[in-house]
Amino acid sequence: MKMLVTGGAGFIGSNFIRYWLLNHADDAVMNYDTLTYAGNLENLRDVEHDPRYRFVKGDIGDFQTVREAMDGIDVVVNFAAESHNDRGILDPGIFVRTNVLGTQVLLAAAKDAKVSRFHHISTCEVFGELELNEDRMFKEDDAYQPKTPYNASKASANHVVMAYFHTFKMPVTMSHCANNYGPYQFPEKVIPVFTTNALEDKPIPLFKSSLHRREWIHVDDHARAIDLIIHNGKIGEAYNVGTRVEKSVEEIADLVLSTLGKPQRLKMYVPDRLQHDKRYLLDPTKIREELGWEPRVGFEDGARETILWYRDNPTWWKNCKSGAYQTYYDNYYNKQIGTV
Ligand SMILES: NC(=O)c1ccc[n+]([C@@H]2O[C@H](COP(=O)([O-])OP(=O)(O)OC[C@H]3O[C@@H](n4cnc5c(N)ncnc54)[C@H](O)[C@@H]3O)[C@@H](O)[C@H]2O)c1
Repeated sequence: MKMLVTGGAGFIGSNFIRYWLLNHADDAVMNYDTLTYAGNLENLRDVEHDPRYRFVKGDIGDFQTVREAMDGIDVVVNFAAESHNDRGILDPGIFVRTNVLGTQVLLAAAKDAKVSRFHHISTCEVFGELELNEDRMFKEDDAYQPKTPYNASKASANHVVMAYFHTFKMPVTMSHCANNYGPYQFPEKVIPVFTTNALEDKPIPLFKSSLHRREWIHVDDHARAIDLIIHNGKIGEAYNVGTRVEKSVEEIADLVLSTLGKPQRLKMYVPDRLQHDKRYLLDPTKIREELGWEPRVGFEDGARETILWYRDNPTWWKNCKSGAYQTYYDNYYNKQIGTV
């Protein structure tokens, strides 16, 4: 199989490419990525000389370039996106351009190239938020109720993907995934930002509503779920990829500090982001019953291993945190520390 992975230089995409090359010896993978601030070819240094791997720099919104890249491709997996809620509040436009318009251009190219599968990566966040005490999980066919620019752009993209299925009979599948953790996550997301700040004895910024919680999945479990959907999933269907393991921001902070042996006083509270969704939880019954998927990595072990990975790879995250990141971080968090 020849696969084109968009956004393969980002966190989940790079882990997915590594997973795929390891588990599918006869397949070739093209990584198509425009290398935004979040795209980092260092994430794939260990596979860059693998003859089955190739990198092409390009924007998913550029029809000509992506169409050329798709010659001979069987399967497209679309990870490329603007992925950080906080940045979506600062600049919603780029989220719509990449996540909605970019996905449509990619679908048009895939249709023209007659690929045999287009798998789209979506998120639990399209379904809106749950109350902290609500006894309900999101099901695949629940109505989308996105509340932030990032969530709205991802929900819109899902509609476009399904429109290509219904109207043009494109062979699409889709997955809604919970919060991923693992190595190579850009240190603006909660686990790497807490970990890398703590390693530098800097304050770790918790949103004031620190009992808000998220459902957590190891990135390798996500990769395995996508593998099963690509091989055995039903065309035109979406699958929830969730573990039912929920942790509050406060619990994540405590886990990071205890793993690294750092003091509680590093915890500092900042105002909630605008529309700080309280909670999401996916019902994973469909993928479990239809495809036999179960998460394999337990949260406590996986998260500790992840935290220690950042401890042991300071060059990687120090490079990520240099330059423009520092300005963004200072403007967004540092100014707010101590204001609540
Ligand atoms: N991180 C999570 O917990 C999570 C959970 C559920 C779903 N998702 C989805 O998974 C996907 C990957 O998330 P991530 O956390 O790895 O994101 P990321 O921000 O780490 O990586 C995104 C990648 O996309 C690339 N990219 C951005 N715009 C592009 C464009 N126009 N053309 C080509 N490449 C472009 C970036 O350079 C980067 O390499 C996203 O679609 C995201 O919405 C993420």
